Amino acid sequence: MTSLMKAAVFASGTGSNFQAIMESTNLPCQIVLLVCDKPDAPVIQKAKHFNIPTFVFDPSEYSRKEAYERQIEKKLEEARVDWIFLAGYMRIIGPTLLKKYEGKIINIHPSLLPQFPGKDAIGQALQARVDVTGVTVHYVDEGIDTGPIIAQESVSVSSEDTVETLQQKIQAIEHKLYPRVIRDLLGEK
Ligand code: GRF
Repeated sequence: MTSLMKAAVFASGTGSNFQAIMESTNLPCQIVLLVCDKPDAPVIQKAKHFNIPTFVFDPSEYSRKEAYERQIEKKLEEARVDWIFLAGYMRIIGPTLLKKYEGKIINIHPSLLPQFPGKDAIGQALQARVDVTGVTVHYVDEGIDTGPIIAQESVSVSSEDTVETLQQKIQAIEHKLYPRVIRDLLGEK
């Protein structure tokens, strides 16, 4: 019997995408680690609930990105991680991890990239008064939301939408799209 591939989720906040991944059925990989850069992020409680080991670190305790990414790399190696899924991880991945996990790091972003990269993509879409925005899953490279696109799904914006309502619509799509892309990319179980 071949063993399942192993993946780590990196997150900094609420962790609703982490939860959606954990709750999705027929995932072709096992989530073996949560990496979190915010010691008080709610996603940590979610990982406890699912019995997923966590590596929580505070970047301000390290001299530079390379120093904490070496620590992360150690944890990933110990857990024999093959894939990294970024789910609201609010940091740029540096060369240490990019080199080691080339082509194996993906991210979910709440816009139709290349539109509205970076922070507050939902606010940016409302500000720009677009009729349609959406969700993108893409490979991670050294830029901010610039890597090759894997899948996109659109969400219509109404004139009544606020950041909260648009975020709700976008997240409902994210929670289905991310597990689906993971299944497509890694192969059915
Ligand atoms: C998601 O909207 C994702 O697209 C973005 O960060 C948000 C994370 O939300 N990268 P959550 O922590 O998964 O609820």
